[in-house]
Amino acid sequence: MTYRDLPKVELHLHLEGAAPPAFIRGLAQEKNIDLSGIFDADGGYVFRDFEHFLSVYEAACEPLKSPEDFYRLTKAVLQETASHGVIYAETFISPDFCGGGDVAAWRDYLDAMAQAATDCETSDGITLKGIVTCIRHEGPEQAKKAAKCAVETMGDFLTGFGMAGAEMMHRPADFAYSFDMAREAGLALTCHAGEWGGPDMVAETLDALKVARLGHGIKAHRDLDLVKRLADEGIVLEVCPGSNVVLKAVDGWVSHPIAKLRDAGVPVTISTDDPPFFHTTMTAEYEALNKTFGWDETDFLELNKTAINAAFCDDATRAGILKRLEQA
Ligand code: ADE
Ligand code: ZN
Repeated sequence: MTYRDLPKVELHLHLEGAAPPAFIRGLAQEKNIDLSGIFDADGGYVFRDFEHFLSVYEAACEPLKSPEDFYRLTKAVLQETASHGVIYAETFISPDFCGGGDVAAWRDYLDAMAQAATDCETSDGITLKGIVTCIRHEGPEQAKKAAKCAVETMGDFLTGFGMAGAEMMHRPADFAYSFDMAREAGLALTCHAGEWGGPDMVAETLDALKVARLGHGIKAHRDLDLVKRLADEGIVLEVCPGSNVVLKAVDGWVSHPIAKLRDAGVPVTISTDDPPFFHTTMTAEYEALNKTFGWDETDFLELNKTAINAAFCDDATRAGILKRLEQA
């Protein structure tokens, strides 16, 4: 049985991290950029560990230099994502890769991504919202630039603010200024935490940044009081099991804590993170969850409802997607 056709909601997808390797290779060739070191013999991205992954990721972003490139990237990613049944997605987008944090430059990039989203909504039946994401290892000052870009351009397409990058660098509170700015402007908030850091990092992130969702959050399972807090406060986890397995944030599928967290009442959702890097798709994630934990269509409907209820979108969009989920 394949889960490909099942309608899905994906909340945690890095736009550049979803770039098909062939797309990046083609763009690099057009621009005479040598990226041979980041691909293996089969043409896939290659990396040793999380730190190396981050540097390969940044190298893969090098050919992405103009709003037109981001228009093409967004379309390529949405077509691939929609082909796996995703009807609503949110994507992390970074002013750091789109004009270096300059608001005027960012506006042009954002317009291009939003236009691609509008075009794909018509052609592929997928709705996309953007989450401006600062990059933790670039530090708190660069994060303020990203937050300013987000606040100045928020609207129908751009609805959230978050943080990715090297979790063990800096402390959550170092970014409170940026998250406060985003919250006060009305942006919805998420932050990567508990992918590498332990329960303390998760709790500190919730206390300092007051986010509604956590990227990954899986290491919370080591502290039962924290698990109860996540359940009581309804903190939604954007879990990316295939990413965790490939990057070795967990030992393997069988020991992945997603089932334990879900059983404890924590709202969990399923995403791919950076699908071509981890040789995954939403279909593959569902198939692996079915094989490992026995989750079936009823479970996936519930998880997708959790996801759309936690989505950073307007009520009309939420209602429309919920209806499509329920009618399937
Ligand atoms: N950026 C892209 N993928 C990421 C991940 N899994 N963790 C942190 N930052 C990221
Ligand atoms: Zn991520």
